[in-house]
Amino acid sequence: MNLKVQPKLIIHGGAGSSLKSKGGMEAVRRSLYPVVEAVYSLLLSGVSATEAVVRGCQMLEDDPCFNAGTGSVLQSDGQIRMSASLMDGASQSFSGVINVSRVRNPIELVQFLQTSPDRVLSDFGAVELARELQIPSYNCLTELRLQEWIQERQDNFKRTMAGVVAEEELLETSNARRGTIGVVALDTYGRLSAGTSTGGKGFERLGRVSDSAMPAGNYATKYAAVSCTGIGEDIIDECLAPRIVLRVTDGMSLKDAMHRTFAEASENNRDFGAIALDARGAIAWGKTSEALLAAYHDGEKMSDTLEIPTGKEIGCLI
Ligand code: GLY
Repeated sequence: MNLKVQPKLIIHGGAGSSLKSKGGMEAVRRSLYPVVEAVYSLLLSGVSATEAVVRGCQMLEDDPCFNAGTGSVLQSDGQIRMSASLMDGASQSFSGVINVSRVRNPIELVQFLQTSPDRVLSDFGAVELARELQIPSYNCLTELRLQEWIQERQDNFKRTMAGVVAEEELLETSNARRGTIGVVALDTYGRLSAGTSTGGKGFERLGRVSDSAMPAGNYATKYAAVSCTGIGEDIIDECLAPRIVLRVTDGMSLKDAMHRTFAEASENNRDFGAIALDARGAIAWGKTSEALLAAYHDGEKMSDTLEIPTGKEIGCLI
């Protein structure tokens, strides 16, 4: 195993309609950059890519701005049900929870499941596991998300999805945004990991399963790792994360894999975004949605994808 690889990190807080106001963008930056900074320091201190991903997901789940953990959107019956997954590229092991409620950090359950014989749990089983692990019961509801649901209920749930970020000024300008959080890391040993967590689309039918708890939305091998965000059904139909990862695993560059995959997605009128890393340290992002709220650390500096111009929907730094 390689020692002293330059760590790399990319995170996202969802994809969807453009953030219209400069204030909105600055608010998202204020949320994303401290996570990049904290998690990149952990990577420099030598923690594994998976530990770094879990910590990053916890921080993003704890930020009420994003649709995961605290600040999750409500489903059609007014309840919060969250989904998350983790894939360790070195062991090529996937774990996930589907539609779990009353836990603060779904990613913690998913981390525990990495070494369990049963690695994907749904609703009751996931809650039972939280009880076994003595994780305290927690209410992820925020006033903004409640108001958003009440407004939508009055409109008979016309919107296809809830807002990607919960900010009053953003909600006013937002329409059909798609929320999820995700973290992809490369550690000093050259190991990759990806984690994704979500409150779902918002206003969905009971029992709907999110891509964020499937390999389609979160996948990694020792060659590449990807976390997706956007309309879950579109992500599942493209089998987005494995499509990119397997192209890289079969020898395509990450840049070419992203271009090919997003060209296919555009042809199919998909609405989503993805962030990715490869084992050589390439950092990539791509989107068919208007905006992708991602930020990264390339080893020298932090930057983001909040203001990428039309025609630059796919980026790859090598
Ligand atoms: N990508 C999040 C969801 O559709 O549930």
